[in-house]
Amino acid sequence: MDTVMTTERIQSDDALVRYLPDKPKLVTLPSGADVKMTAEGVNVFYGEKQALDDISIDIHSKQITALIGPSGCGKTTFLRCLNRMNDVVDGCRITGRITMDGEDIYAPKVDVVSLRGQVGMVFQKPNPFPKSIFENVAYGPKIHGYAHGNDELEEVVVRSLNKAGLFEEVKDRLQEPATGLSGGQQQRLCIARAIAINPAVLLMDEPCSALDPIATARIEDLMWELKENFTIIIVTHSMQQASRVSQRTGFFHMGVLAETGTTEQIFQNPVDARTRDYITGRFG
Ligand SMILES: Nc1ncnc2c1ncn2[C@@H]1O[C@H](COP(=O)(O)OP(=O)(O)OP(=O)(O)O)[C@@H](O)[C@H]1O
Ligand SMILES: [Mg+2]
Repeated sequence: MDTVMTTERIQSDDALVRYLPDKPKLVTLPSGADVKMTAEGVNVFYGEKQALDDISIDIHSKQITALIGPSGCGKTTFLRCLNRMNDVVDGCRITGRITMDGEDIYAPKVDVVSLRGQVGMVFQKPNPFPKSIFENVAYGPKIHGYAHGNDELEEVVVRSLNKAGLFEEVKDRLQEPATGLSGGQQQRLCIARAIAINPAVLLMDEPCSALDPIATARIEDLMWELKENFTIIIVTHSMQQASRVSQRTGFFHMGVLAETGTTEQIFQNPVDARTRDYITGRFG
């Protein structure tokens, strides 16, 4: 895989930038990049209403892909196609093809529970279970049978909390209710819960929208570390966040994927006028 290093950061007046360490950005060139998931001609209907129209995109392995676009353009709908969360939405119909490692995830033989074990999701609003901090993280490995015995389970919980950058803050209160954590801690707990089952792909739907700049910076740092092992797709309304964390960006507009490319290209030299208008704040 061809990679180039650049220390260039997209300039912005966003105060969040100053909280972030100045990391070099690893940009993977499109040629020869591994593709983890592919959507080909995906359409989504809610009843009669078409929410997504002919979406095709490659999701590159061990990179962060940002999905941006105005409210209601279909970002969450698309994210939910990738782990078949739309299966449980009444009246939702999907056509087209989505593959992971070349295999159709909508094929009849696919076990949806195990698919969701491989494609984890973190939601906009932290949604810890009404259980202890420990149990929140232990739940997935238990039901998927990834940990045998208490020692192994404890090891997975500690490792996941550590990876999510939360362990030090909660190590003395693991048996206390997760709902007692702050919003930012709850979001990191949900990330720990998602990564505890070692998914290959992590879907994050506006994971920082309810967080303060410091908690946001921690989660962005964390994503940067996680992408060494995981393929991440993040939906965000923050242009600064997309430009800081992602290597590739897709711009949705009214149900179509108007433009995809490297994040540098999308933010510095967008081809589509709609992308240019959106990232320069002319609409949306
Ligand atoms: N369960 C549903 N039933 C009917 N229509 C839906 C449903 N979920 C989403 N939609 C519609 O599909 C379109 C895309 O919605 P979606 O939630 O994917 O947008 P989004 O880009 O994530 O927006 P936002 O940035 O506000 O989260 C919208 O018109 C929305 O009203
Ligand atoms: Mg959404």
